[in-house]
Amino acid sequence: MEFQFPQGFVWGSATAALQIEGATREDGRGDSQWDVFCREHPERIWQQATPDLACDHYHRWAGDVALMKALGHTGYRLSIAWPRIIPDGTGAVNEAGVAFYRRLFAALIEAGIEPNVTLYHWDLPQPLARAGGWENPATMDAFLRYARVCFEAFGDQVKLWATFNEPSWSTLNGYVTALHPPLKHDYRAAVQVAYTLMVTHARTVALFHGLGGDGKIGIVQNMCPVYPATDSPRDAEAARIADAVYNRWFIDPALLGRFPEDAVELYRRNHILPEMRREDLDMVAADSVDFIGVNYYFPHYASADATETLFGLNTSGNRDEDCHFSIKGLFKFVRNPKGRYTDWAWEIYPPGLRDLLARAHRYRPGLPIYVTENGIGAQETLDADGTVDDQYRIDFVREHLEVIHGAIADGMNVRGYYMWALMDNFSWLNGYKKRYGFLFIDRETMRRVPKKSAFWYREVARRNGF
Ligand code: BGC
Repeated sequence: MEFQFPQGFVWGSATAALQIEGATREDGRGDSQWDVFCREHPERIWQQATPDLACDHYHRWAGDVALMKALGHTGYRLSIAWPRIIPDGTGAVNEAGVAFYRRLFAALIEAGIEPNVTLYHWDLPQPLARAGGWENPATMDAFLRYARVCFEAFGDQVKLWATFNEPSWSTLNGYVTALHPPLKHDYRAAVQVAYTLMVTHARTVALFHGLGGDGKIGIVQNMCPVYPATDSPRDAEAARIADAVYNRWFIDPALLGRFPEDAVELYRRNHILPEMRREDLDMVAADSVDFIGVNYYFPHYASADATETLFGLNTSGNRDEDCHFSIKGLFKFVRNPKGRYTDWAWEIYPPGLRDLLARAHRYRPGLPIYVTENGIGAQETLDADGTVDDQYRIDFVREHLEVIHGAIADGMNVRGYYMWALMDNFSWLNGYKKRYGFLFIDRETMRRVPKKSAFWYREVARRNGF
């Protein structure tokens, strides 16, 4: 075997509650901002898809755990739906919601699959969203209470926790590109929310450690590496700024205990810096995550040639349609003319993963790192023989695993890999068109069909390498 992984390396896959559970109105679950967004803006989502049924995991969880076991998983990353635990965000705890996750965690543990649980994967309870969402400081308090409820209800079962999934991506899409709820294009709000999320994260870590359990807590970040588009000094500067607002604003507080000075300066100059209270900064400084989760899909290339403000996500699945992210006068992301691209125009660039693992290692040498998401979206149908021959997914995962193997050989403490995703799911604006799973979901029958990649991964997990 060429790539042997360390003993105990976690072989898993990932999902998020809203994307797979369905049963959005069952057993007392409240609305999240995404349920309402899908209802109010069906035109923004491919084929007006909704998360109402999703993968019907809420009813099929036992079979799904059995499939994970059959595929040799030793870990599974999932998220808890806040509106299932506290339906209106602040009121009574919904015991049926708690019972659902307790059953699920018990089945996973019984199957030898360690749960890695994210508290927040974007499904903010709607009453909190209506009251201003993360712009309203009350949301921070509501989240801390929700986190405490979860730690107390599941702490005996769950030993790996993450506070937020990709605070950078949800802030940018919620408050800059206006593609995700609350559909705002408001830089001041964006910076305020980005600040609040990181302070909330730090307070949650402190709360968790204060409870004194034996679990570990971290955060899951999408650390898209940003490279200059050319070797001009202007593009180098554009890449530095893009990295500051896109990555370092979120990574630095979590791993270094402070907000990056250059971004603070930029926001101050533009009069959009929120009040940074001493007590918040002390919280951030004290933040001591036990691990970092890294989501990696693609890198960015920044150009200084940003003459307009323009945002657009490829939702067509046509690889010639570019994604747009350009902030006038600051930076614009451009395509790599030499890059390999997926059907959604996301570049396939495994060395980018190496760069961000190296950054995490540089920031906090030896800190355990999990690759909490990595995968490839494609349009897929069942072959005539009733399977999916997704060789491209095998190639994609193998190339990234080779990078992880090299990083471990060089002393980085990478503990596990969670492929996105266990199953095809509700892929936000792309609805059910963009398929990511090891398991193909037949949308008519909800039948799960393991793709070729699932069998390949089973062998990798069994042999602890390839
Ligand atoms: C998110 C997932 C999402 C995936 C693929 C990540 O940014 O965490 O929820 O489905 O990207 O689009």
